Amino acid sequence: EKGGYDHYMRKEIHEQPTALRQILECHSSGEGLPDLDSAFLDGIREVQFVACGTSYHAALYGEYVATERGIPASTHLASEYATHARPVSEGTLVVAVTQSGETADTLGAIETAQRADARTLAVTNVVGSSAARVCDGALYIRAGPEIGVAATKTFSSQVVALSLFADQLAGEDSPSGPVDFGSLPGGVERVLETSRSRDIAERYRGRDAFFFIGRGVGYPVALEGALKFKEISYEHAEGFAAGELKHGPLALVTPASVVFAIFTGQDDEKLLGNVREAQTRGATVVAVTDGTNEEVLRQADDILSIPEAPPTVAGLLANVQLQLVSYHAAALLGRPIDKPRNLAKSVTVE
Ligand code: M6R
Repeated sequence: EKGGYDHYMRKEIHEQPTALRQILECHSSGEGLPDLDSAFLDGIREVQFVACGTSYHAALYGEYVATERGIPASTHLASEYATHARPVSEGTLVVAVTQSGETADTLGAIETAQRADARTLAVTNVVGSSAARVCDGALYIRAGPEIGVAATKTFSSQVVALSLFADQLAGEDSPSGPVDFGSLPGGVERVLETSRSRDIAERYRGRDAFFFIGRGVGYPVALEGALKFKEISYEHAEGFAAGELKHGPLALVTPASVVFAIFTGQDDEKLLGNVREAQTRGATVVAVTDGTNEEVLRQADDILSIPEAPPTVAGLLANVQLQLVSYHAAALLGRPIDKPRNLAKSVTVE
């Protein structure tokens, strides 16, 4: 059932090219999103994403894409939304991003939104799930079942689904064109075939802390890289917006730290400055990069390569590299990868 892999997580990481082709093909074969009647989006002028954990990171990534397309969008932790709801108007759509469709915090946020009369949409992997049933509409990410507690392929498919949703909502008068994800499934295949992630995990095993930094879409990827790393390896890992390092987290950086810097082509020069800040404190920096910026190659202590791609695609490719690093770090430590301690696949308590 694990298809020859030791763990579901590894199998699911490797299923990403197929999962991504599934959602991209069903989109290109029809007019607009197959699950959404175009009238559903009529009059929507603002989007509020609500989600938890990995889905929150996918939503934040989606917010960056939507904002580039000129859509006012914001992302909220579902568990906070019920306590601190945002004002909604007739033109507000609250989008619940939830792989399982059963997360209690997210269902609570939907309830809060509906009490305020907001229109609601579920972006989910599970047809007929609670979120799909209670929301006014549902958009399915078509990733196939995900068994490992660590979310992997669903993150990538959520980001693509949210980007396609942003395309549909942005329509003709968007300031930027749609993201071309055509190269994504093949790019993920390349990463899976060529990744040096096991070597990297082995080389830096035993370090005190693992930090992940990025800018633009590299920021949600940094958060997701750190969540995955801590969740399955139990090592101390934190993700930061790279510019924030100097506002506090830099105090944690020592020669025993490893910093993963995610280069997507968005503000790479500034990110290089942040890399130097960490190196000055003795940290080792692993750059996730397509290698086109020679300065990045010169400055980094180690490299994880991704194929050349536009920033929105590059962020997803970098995320796959980081999924693999986490997987190998946890495997080397003998962790129960598919069922990390204290965690459940679907969190049904608030
Ligand atoms: O089913 P959901 O997408 O609503 O789950 C939300 C989080 O519990 C989930 O993404 C969690 O953070 C992941 N298992 C982490 O890998």
